Amino acid sequence: MPRHFLKLSDLSAAEINRVIERARGLKAQKSDLPRSLSGKTLAMIFTKNSTRTRVSFEAGVAKLGGHALFLHGDATQLGRSEPISDTAKVLSRMVDAVMIRNDSHADQQELAANASVPVINGLCNLHHPCQLLADLQTWIEHRGPLAGKTAAWIGDGNNVCHSWIEAAKLLDFKLRIACPKGYEPSSALLAWAGDAVELMRGAAFAANGADLIVTDTWTSMGQEKEEAKRLAAFTPYTVNAELMARARPDAIFQHCLPAHRGEEVTGEVIDGPQSVVWDEAENRLWAQMALLEFLLEA
Ligand code: CP
Ligand code: NVA
Repeated sequence: MPRHFLKLSDLSAAEINRVIERARGLKAQKSDLPRSLSGKTLAMIFTKNSTRTRVSFEAGVAKLGGHALFLHGDATQLGRSEPISDTAKVLSRMVDAVMIRNDSHADQQELAANASVPVINGLCNLHHPCQLLADLQTWIEHRGPLAGKTAAWIGDGNNVCHSWIEAAKLLDFKLRIACPKGYEPSSALLAWAGDAVELMRGAAFAANGADLIVTDTWTSMGQEKEEAKRLAAFTPYTVNAELMARARPDAIFQHCLPAHRGEEVTGEVIDGPQSVVWDEAENRLWAQMALLEFLLEA
């Protein structure tokens, strides 16, 4: 049975730490990298836009001597209703791993259930686990071990927030979530996380004394029609200098990007000294290289 990575909790805490350690090792090595994916092909299916995920997977596989294949969903037979289960069986005969970014976690599960190679979630409606590998790597690089620390998620209870919830539970840090009414994360996931996660209404309460402040767009891909309504609901949740001042003086700011300056974060914060967003984006590369090595050797 192949190992899949459809959500962060598909790996144990020890495995996540191992992948992050390896990512840091590859990053330190930078050049003269091993050809650990030599002869391996990764198929990457995208039905949604991407800059970081596409480029980091494609460049990362190339750095380790492998080949990545970009498949735009609509340009494949998936776009003409070929069953995803048939697609899984066919791709499994030709490539060594499949990455998929789409709208439906259920479709990803069906793809994985019918694949004999690892399937990786490159973002769906419910999770963005690859993002969290990079986010955690970045946090550790800047501030050391995570156990006992506090992160504050300010904004939408969305796919990235869900992966942060899983991270808090698995890696033993606290996550406070401040979101407007009606935009809460999955209640099932909150119940699973127990006291690792605390849901709060006010952004200021969540930010108080936090070690890390993190946010994401208020309007995720596919929600464009709700944009005006969302903008109104989320206005009190902008991460600005005043909110950052409530966190610890050495707190860092993260954002998975793409960002909307003046909405979920001010330019002053994202382009300011506490922001680590460029390291975070770069770490997508190293974290996913380590993930692919892990899944392909498993
Ligand atoms: N953070 C992230 O996944 O970026 P892309 O949408 O550009 O891949
Ligand atoms: N929540 C965002 C993340 C983009 C990387 C979205 O789903 O569009």
